[in-house]
Amino acid sequence: MDARELLEYMPQLLNPSITRRVRAKYYFKFSGEEPGDYSLTINNGNCVFSEGLPDDPSITIDVPSEIWMGISAGVINPRAAMKSGQLKVKGKFLLLLRFNKYFSGDSKATFVPEGLYGETENEKNIRSKKWDKPKKVLGIQAAPRKKKGATEMVYSSLISGMKNVGVKVDTVYLAEKKINPCRGCYHCWKSDDGFGDCVFKDKDEMHGILKMIPEYDLMVFATPLYVDGVSGLLKNFIDRMIPLNHPYIFLKDGHSRHPSRFSKLPNLVLTSVCGFYEIDNFDPLVHHIKAMGENMHIPLIATVLRPTSMVALNSELHAVEAEKIRESISLAGMEIVKEGKVPRKLTKLIQRPILPKGHYYSSTKTWWKNWM
Ligand SMILES: Cc1cc2nc3c(=O)[nH]c(=O)nc-3n(C[C@H](O)[C@H](O)[C@H](O)COP(=O)(O)O)c2cc1C
Repeated sequence: MDARELLEYMPQLLNPSITRRVRAKYYFKFSGEEPGDYSLTINNGNCVFSEGLPDDPSITIDVPSEIWMGISAGVINPRAAMKSGQLKVKGKFLLLLRFNKYFSGDSKATFVPEGLYGETENEKNIRSKKWDKPKKVLGIQAAPRKKKGATEMVYSSLISGMKNVGVKVDTVYLAEKKINPCRGCYHCWKSDDGFGDCVFKDKDEMHGILKMIPEYDLMVFATPLYVDGVSGLLKNFIDRMIPLNHPYIFLKDGHSRHPSRFSKLPNLVLTSVCGFYEIDNFDPLVHHIKAMGENMHIPLIATVLRPTSMVALNSELHAVEAEKIRESISLAGMEIVKEGKVPRKLTKLIQRPILPKGHYYSSTKTWWKNWM
């Protein structure tokens, strides 16, 4: 970004609430490496960039362009620049002091370069409460115990409901895949090729899965709750999803975001099981997956969560209850496809306590004893 572009960009960083009653004309008289005359005119919460000397500027900032760039980047102290005579100011000095406050980036949105997507089609639909029935679902089953545990029980019930209403479901069992952890080298973002050009592209199985993601309408993450979050397998997978985004950073609803490389991505459903009794054990997990969904333009639309997994889903001990829970989860799968949400009544059935809390503790003792 050069000095002119930097100023041209400033209107997008205007804080409309702070500048609601501000009228000011900033005149930048750039000398140095990129000489030029520019102005920023603030008028009651709006700002316009223009070239040339404005009529009647409120403040004139006379400075070499490279010094202003340094001040903007926070590497040159404006007071020191004034002291050394590089930065000269005429007019209302207070406007210089307030510059950072006025342009604090708390506006609603900044622009996104052409060919990238600040908001994907699926996000737009969710925002306008429009539900397009998914046709293709990609299940990411992230349990290290693969098909042996409670994660598979909830996952298989959920997708059987989805299949009942005609949806095609493909499942990836992460425990069967070779997916290296992200190295954080940003190769996928630095190379011009961009999408998928990860250092592990031909060395593991992530690229094949990543390429498939935009083809699906819905993704299901199925994970056991591990130390209040996702399993390591799922975290690994999520980190390796960053090539779906572009490195450019923009402002969306007051929050820094990366735009998507894709005009449409799937929405997301989370299903999980945990050993403890209380439903709030899932709070940090849901919070994380919701944030991740906003970050990756794959919004979380529904959750299917079941605590006391070892006790509740143990068919030997609680055959009837376990079956009822599985049926409710299957119905939730159908509702998600049809309506994009799980009715509250159904969530209550899925999460209903099978045992009083006191019995749960003695039950887990027996469970561990038999297990070990
Ligand atoms: C490493 C690890 C961490 C766990 N952390 C939690 C936890 O923080 N809270 C909880 O309620 N259960 C926790 N559990 C219990 C699992 O969520 C529970 O056993 C679940 O059924 C595991 O899924 P699986 O049956 O598909 O293997 C943990 C289990 C493991 C192995």
